[in-house]
Amino acid sequence: MVDLVGWVDDKLRRAFARASLPVEGVRSVPATRPEFGDFQCNAAMALGKAAKRNPRDLAAAVAETLRADPDFASVEVAGPGFLNLRLADGFVAGLAREQAASPTLGIVQTGGAPVLLDFGGANVAKPLHVGHLRSLVIGESLSRIFQAQGLETVSDVHFGDWGLQMGMLIGAIRRAHPGRAPGTVGEVIGIDEMQRLYPEAAAACKADPGRMAEARALTAALQGGDAEARADWAALRATSFADQKGDFDRLGAHFDLYLGESDVQATVDRLVPDLMARGVAERDDGAVVIAVAEPSDTKQIPPLMLEKSDGAATYGTTDLATIADRPDNAESRHCGRYVYVVDERQSLHFTQVFRAARRAGLAPGVAFTHVGFGTVNGLDGKPYKTREGGVARLRDLLDEAVAKARERVDASDPDVDAEELAQQVGLAAVKWADLSTGRLGGYVFNLERMMSFEGNTGPYVQYACVRIGAIAARAKAAGAEASAIALGHPAERALAMACLGLPNAVEAAAAGAAPNEIAGFAFAVAQSFSRFYTECPVLAAGEDERAARLALCELAFAVLSRALWMLGIAVPRRM
Ligand code: ARG
Repeated sequence: MVDLVGWVDDKLRRAFARASLPVEGVRSVPATRPEFGDFQCNAAMALGKAAKRNPRDLAAAVAETLRADPDFASVEVAGPGFLNLRLADGFVAGLAREQAASPTLGIVQTGGAPVLLDFGGANVAKPLHVGHLRSLVIGESLSRIFQAQGLETVSDVHFGDWGLQMGMLIGAIRRAHPGRAPGTVGEVIGIDEMQRLYPEAAAACKADPGRMAEARALTAALQGGDAEARADWAALRATSFADQKGDFDRLGAHFDLYLGESDVQATVDRLVPDLMARGVAERDDGAVVIAVAEPSDTKQIPPLMLEKSDGAATYGTTDLATIADRPDNAESRHCGRYVYVVDERQSLHFTQVFRAARRAGLAPGVAFTHVGFGTVNGLDGKPYKTREGGVARLRDLLDEAVAKARERVDASDPDVDAEELAQQVGLAAVKWADLSTGRLGGYVFNLERMMSFEGNTGPYVQYACVRIGAIAARAKAAGAEASAIALGHPAERALAMACLGLPNAVEAAAAGAAPNEIAGFAFAVAQSFSRFYTECPVLAAGEDERAARLALCELAFAVLSRALWMLGIAVPRRM
């Protein structure tokens, strides 16, 4: 029973009931100032108003019951009828000991079906750019948050590997290597040439209808099963994959499935006629669409296009076909939720796709969620660009962060792999900046700020872990052992209270698909630890106090490293 907030709310409700008051809406909030105690409850105000009674009287009746409970150190009625609650130190210490002994650190294991996460979503043949950063780090973090709740997750990258861009590129490669037979051209192309040819090909097709017609024909050939087109495509997909996989691995983004739009071609071929036959899809001006508008819509939701008038499938078709396939795939068969971590600008697309899936009866019983996010911006507040005004490559951005980290970290320790450390710190800075803000707002990519060892940054929280680790190492060397947590000093109590926030942070993060809840929690623990560190000597304390403080340090280290794990951030040994 480490669920502190749930416990307090329960006590409150009982006390309200005892005073013959309704309990609905009775809950606690964290106290706004430490001198008010640990928690506050404002329910008496609303109840007093409804019952036309003085809220202070209601609050006083509740306070009387709560005061009889030895787990509260004080219960006060303040102002017009606020209840200020302070828990007894012994009670907090007991909870902290329970948390320390719990393998999940008190995180509630929810149980339930596995969750499928669709994120990454890179298009083949292009290098990953800054826009992919958010999907990758948020998607990976959500996957870990669900795992921390004991849920199984299945992650699928859903490559964009089947559209017109493939025909454009195959055409461009064949032109660039006129001596080679079609079907063998993909083999000779390296990643650099591919990434150079791709934008050239796109521009050429835009400017020249002949080139565009060629690209369309090649795309149709590829999708129609032409062996040469398919061989060239497979080779360039493999080259692109190897390149992008390097970035996924470096970011620690793990995928169970590397499927893509190409994997559902056969499903698309049978799904569209099937939906038409069932009357779910219909012809509209030569195209095939599914109407998805609903009477309660406040803005117009256009139909989902399944087939353009030229017969080509769309982005929506492949997403719908993917939903049709997932219940049959061994890996995703049992998933009860599909979570799509994709740019907020695609929210209409997902509304259409999810509604179309419902109408078509695909993946019955599955809950669909689109987890959107805002853009990464430059210092000017506009979407991030390179100095030359181009799209920033993800790799360059990460390299820059790691280079900055290399300047800051202490490489003098012979036991530390300086390069590994620079990678850990640089990536922590980038991930923290991304995950610590609400995902729907954009944020400014300010390397200087995110790299600071002070303030709300990844390196600051990593550094807190390193300092705790150093205390533990010195204690071990001195033969000092931890005992059980006991709380005497206010800074000890504050640190224990901060640690006890973990279960709530995880619950809020999972419910709102909000990794920033975890970051906010970790930052609060790191700050509480800083204060504890300055005010409470550990190794220099007397034997009993030292042992109890070591135990508290162990708990702080455990919750902080678990939180950083959920954010995909490494805990370095030294810094
Ligand atoms: N490839 C898409 C794009 O670049 C993103 C894919 C997101 N996932 C999905 N299931 N639609 O916009």
